[in-house]
Amino acid sequence: MPTPASPADPRVAIVTGAASGVGLATVRGLLAESAHVVAVDVDPSAAELFAADPGVLTVIGDVADPATAERAVTAALDAFGRVDVLVNNAARFLLKPLAETTVTEWDAVLRTNVRGVFLFSRAVLPTMTAQGGGSIVNVTSISGLVGLANQAVYGASKGAIVTLTKALAVEVAASGVRVNAVAPGTVDTPFVREPLAALPDPEATLRTIAATHPLGRIARPSEIADAVLYLASPAASFITGTVLPVDGGYTAQ
Ligand SMILES: NC(=O)c1ccc[n+]([C@@H]2O[C@H](COP(=O)([O-])OP(=O)(O)OC[C@H]3O[C@@H](n4cnc5c(N)ncnc54)[C@H](O)[C@@H]3O)[C@@H](O)[C@H]2O)c1
Repeated sequence: MPTPASPADPRVAIVTGAASGVGLATVRGLLAESAHVVAVDVDPSAAELFAADPGVLTVIGDVADPATAERAVTAALDAFGRVDVLVNNAARFLLKPLAETTVTEWDAVLRTNVRGVFLFSRAVLPTMTAQGGGSIVNVTSISGLVGLANQAVYGASKGAIVTLTKALAVEVAASGVRVNAVAPGTVDTPFVREPLAALPDPEATLRTIAATHPLGRIARPSEIADAVLYLASPAASFITGTVLPVDGGYTAQ
């Protein structure tokens, strides 16, 4: 049984959806800050991805399965003795008119995107509360803040995360646990590239999407990760219940 970390020891973080895009950039950022990381992903390739890094433990599983959250917390406690940070990042996308959306698709999006945040937050809270504090950062989306066509289901899931973030922040503030969210605009990851691949000219569509962001481009995953790392860090010690758009000005319009 390892000795629990003192405040001077590396922070311990759990990151979901760690094998790609924003999650992967967040893991890399945390490692650059000398944190220990439990990287969670449903994609088995995550194990190989982090195999060479002694600061990373990998848990392969679906975030919507309660057992995955329990395994991640147990892995963190067994190996590192504490949990300081949880980044709820794993999600699935659906780009489809509501009228064409099946019940199966609705359930799949809400199950991964909302139930996953619920289960992982619930799993870390006893440990963070016993430690006297911690930081949960949820990754929502501009789609959870404003209405975007063909994203009603995805947007509903991300809007639920916005409200969950604020409610939980208030609920657990007295225990020293902070709960915040980042709301990215479009980010250059497989999350957007894969659905666009079916279109006749994906690159032209991406340029059109980029032009809807006042900064005139889409984000790099590391730009979202930087905001996550800030909210997770002691530099954000008086920030809780906030949703930070990281969207190139999209929601300022
Ligand atoms: N890419 C964008 O334009 C964009 C915009 C706004 C918000 N976001 C949000 O950013 C977050 C990360 O997205 P990304 O763009 O990095 O996507 P991505 O597809 O690059 O990575 C998502 C990761 O989550 C994993 N994952 C998916 N379902 C899972 C499940 N049920 N259990 C465990 N892992 C699962 C995938 O295997 C993948 O590794 C998501 O919450 C997404 O909603 C993305």
